[in-house]
Amino acid sequence: MKKIFNLIDAGLGRLIFRNDNNFIINLYGSFKRFLLNDVNKKNNFFHSGYIFSGKGNLNYCEELKLYINKFITKNFKKNTYNYTIPNNKKIIEISKKLFESNKTLKSHLKDIFNNKFIISDISIYRNFHFEAQNLSNEQYSNFYHCDHYLKTMFKVFIILDDVNEKNGPLFFFDKRTTKKIIPKYYKNRTNYVSDLDRKFQASKFTGKIGDTLICSTTECLHKAGIPEKNKMRDIIVYNLFNFKQTDPWHYENDLSHTLSKKFGKIKI
Ligand SMILES: [Fe+2]
Repeated sequence: MKKIFNLIDAGLGRLIFRNDNNFIINLYGSFKRFLLNDVNKKNNFFHSGYIFSGKGNLNYCEELKLYINKFITKNFKKNTYNYTIPNNKKIIEISKKLFESNKTLKSHLKDIFNNKFIISDISIYRNFHFEAQNLSNEQYSNFYHCDHYLKTMFKVFIILDDVNEKNGPLFFFDKRTTKKIIPKYYKNRTNYVSDLDRKFQASKFTGKIGDTLICSTTECLHKAGIPEKNKMRDIIVYNLFNFKQTDPWHYENDLSHTLSKKFGKIKI
């Protein structure tokens, strides 16, 4: 019975909302978001699903990079292509300063959410090159997907390197393009047409260190690009939830994947 329900839930989600999320989670997320935001407000974010959003302070980026370098020097393993740097008090403190230093980001978040959001988690990653031959070798979210969370979740990405096409930038499609792709060209994370990037001209998050992107990753198909040989890419990702609370750092001492799950998953 549960299997049939899941199949219908998945099918309807793709048919009606045309993203890679099931019907119930889409419906509940849309409803929650509708209650929290002024639908008459003029901004393009809810329409396109993403916005480039200024630049964080270079010194904080460099400070975080020192922690990344230190962690990887200590924990380097052959055949490991993605490192997540464990958060500690100092890293969270610098990450917070970096976030707050981006005035454009702050102003966009006010325009889009009227500052009704909280940060539930922070992740810092370094990706290295690996040989990806086909759709069977996923090392670090390098297959197209939408995040399987309520659409009250958004992500803020700040690149901690100068990133060009060779560094494996984040690839993503806006909401409109995602809606075009889903019915015909995308079944699931491991089953979609192989030349999506070219067919629909994926956007790539390239730029200079500190550059920032806000993206509705539950509605926009996206993937991590793979750096070329001897290249890498560092990035910090903030998980945000549209929320009643207007202090973004309300959960500063509890940031975790578990907290994101608490706010972003539903139990049926
Ligand atoms: Fe993702």
